Amino acid sequence: MKEVVVSAPGKLMLLGEHAVVYGKPCLVTAVNKRLNIKVSLTGGRDFILNAPDVSVRSYKKPLAMLGRAETPKGAAFVEKAVLNFKERYSFEEGLLLETDSEFSSGFGFGSSSASTVCVIKALSEIFERKLSKKDIFDLSYKTVLDVQKTGSGFDVASAVYGGTIYFVAGGEEIERIDNKSFNLIVGYSGTKADTSEIVREVAKKREEEKEKVDGIFAAIEILVENGKKFMLESDWENFGKTMNENQVLLSQLGVSIGKLDHMIDAARNAGAYGAKLSGAGGGDCMLALSPPDKLGDIRKAIESTGGKIIDIEASAEGVNML
Ligand code: PMV
Repeated sequence: MKEVVVSAPGKLMLLGEHAVVYGKPCLVTAVNKRLNIKVSLTGGRDFILNAPDVSVRSYKKPLAMLGRAETPKGAAFVEKAVLNFKERYSFEEGLLLETDSEFSSGFGFGSSSASTVCVIKALSEIFERKLSKKDIFDLSYKTVLDVQKTGSGFDVASAVYGGTIYFVAGGEEIERIDNKSFNLIVGYSGTKADTSEIVREVAKKREEEKEKVDGIFAAIEILVENGKKFMLESDWENFGKTMNENQVLLSQLGVSIGKLDHMIDAARNAGAYGAKLSGAGGGDCMLALSPPDKLGDIRKAIESTGGKIIDIEASAEGVNML
């Protein structure tokens, strides 16, 4: 049985969330917690998916039925990715897909986009199509938009390219600005954020207070440009200050919550260069940039607020074959 195993990283937004949905740039880093997918040719004519991390077991459909009839929530991205690949590159062989995640889909690490990218990469390998990274990004991003309707694609780009990237919505600019010499501490708030819902709330706020919200986005854009420069110079003190300023703007947008604020304050009081929420807000994770000698203190401080530390390394490799 012909099979391939593909792996893609999770991600964390360093600077620029929300504004990136409105055409501004952001900085995102890939993390070494990965999502793996094994794809096998079965010799049949069915699509079969096992994704135990999202409670999908032995979900089966004839290939001809992809995208039709009901799809379990946990299978939506994978099924759509297979359908989009089939429509673009055409194949008739039955497939068994098995996913295995090193992180919970509740963390906001981008499991949907990572699994989408894995499927497109795996199918391109198994059917020997030569897809460039940009081809993989484009088809994966189309898939994510087909399923969830909104999204800048930063998470897709991070899963494809890995490292730390400067990203403009839709993949208009994707620039690797790798620097592995920073220490991030990630704290999980304990609640899963509903990204689409929060993106809709921000859109509503922008309708009501356009000038104010566009002003916030313009200010975030400046922070991202500064942050990129500080990262390239390994100026962590100023990168941390930039994170703090970004957090103020996110609070003005109304997307932070008390639990995240407590974790962020605790990290700063324990000596972090800076701290902020990461992603849509409303839950998920916060991150703190730590001086090398403060790692233990900051971890303890975050834990003392009830946050759960998730050990990660930043700037991990993008999608690859195992
Ligand atoms: O909640 P997350 O980690 O998927 O991040 C969402 C980031 C937003 O900028 C709010 C949305 C987007 O698609 O860029």
